[in-house]
Amino acid sequence: MPFRPRYTGLIERYRDRLPVSSDTRIISLGEGNTPLIKLQNIPRLLGKNVDIYVKYEGLNPTGSFKDRGMTMAVTKAVEAGSKAIICASTGNTSAAAAAYAARAGITAFVLIPDGKIAMGKLAQAMMYGAMTLQIRGNFDDGMRLVKEVADHAPVTIVNSVNPYRLQGQKTAAFEIIEDLGRAPDYHCLPVGNAGNITAHWIGYCEYSSAAGAHVTDSCAFCNGDCKFASGAIVSNRPKMIGYQAAGSAPFMRGHMVDHPETIATAIRIGHPQSWDRAWNVMQESNGWFAEVSDAEILAAQRMLTRHEGVFCEPASAASLAGLMKDIKSGKIEEGATIVLTLTGNGLKDPDTAIAQCQGEDKASMVTIDATLDQVKGAILDNMA
Ligand code: F0G
Repeated sequence: MPFRPRYTGLIERYRDRLPVSSDTRIISLGEGNTPLIKLQNIPRLLGKNVDIYVKYEGLNPTGSFKDRGMTMAVTKAVEAGSKAIICASTGNTSAAAAAYAARAGITAFVLIPDGKIAMGKLAQAMMYGAMTLQIRGNFDDGMRLVKEVADHAPVTIVNSVNPYRLQGQKTAAFEIIEDLGRAPDYHCLPVGNAGNITAHWIGYCEYSSAAGAHVTDSCAFCNGDCKFASGAIVSNRPKMIGYQAAGSAPFMRGHMVDHPETIATAIRIGHPQSWDRAWNVMQESNGWFAEVSDAEILAAQRMLTRHEGVFCEPASAASLAGLMKDIKSGKIEEGATIVLTLTGNGLKDPDTAIAQCQGEDKASMVTIDATLDQVKGAILDNMA
């Protein structure tokens, strides 16, 4: 049987491109290496000749892309001797912080907006054993408090203001290039704090000759056997497109938003921490920001589950919602290769999923007696 090394997480995989040394104790749960799935039905339904791939980050160990940044942030916190980490979160960062802290044997404190995080994420923070502080305020209040308290208590901030987070997250762009053999023409992401769009751009630039990267032929992972060894480069970089929920769209308004609202609670953020960096990404990549309504987000989430069998959380669906509009309007041309990041798993937010199925005209669930007649009747009534 051919030998393939056991995958042990993204720091080991991209060790030569990350700020770790041979002595560093790596805190990993096997994150990264997520599938790039080509959509088969949605392009046809749109009637357009485009190649759309989704990078399914919901398959990371805690169900979101945050694990990529958290393996780096917690590894470096432990290396520096930190005994506790802290973050503000709309839910996914807190889940990841809690899990990696548990793995490292240190304490996690997480500040979450009371009543405004999805149930799966709350369950994760509590189960992984983080000290969970529900604040009567939103994410932006939590972020302000975390920064203030870090000056007064021995805790390491693991929000994306911690530079190691973006270092970990940039590896998603490496994986995409290795899978496609090139960078896509467009890369679409939902934007909240704007750390992830910034991290992807860093990753694309590090693999691109357009940004001055140079070729090496050694790959620590496969001894140079893989087609795109870790030093390989491509010539192109994508246009980066950031989609915001209309009620939480500071980049569209051109200023911070004090009372953000959206059903996509993960991106219910009015004061993004990576404001300047994200504008730079747009300028350098010739990309753009756009906004989508909550109804468009939910419709895109359903479309992806019903037509492709891929279940992402509402915030992640913002990228498909926006992309469909930009394809229909012709802003994205036919023949383009597009990657969408599906940032989080649909199972994170069961309440929103069930509520929208219950609101549909055609019921996807009925309650019947436990009899052959009723089961048969339900089948015959619902055959396509
Ligand atoms: N999608 C999901 C599922 C998220 O959880 C987040 C951010 C984003 C998109 C936006 O990414 O902030 O880098 O622009 N969630 C953070 C959290 C804020 O606390 O979990 P971004």
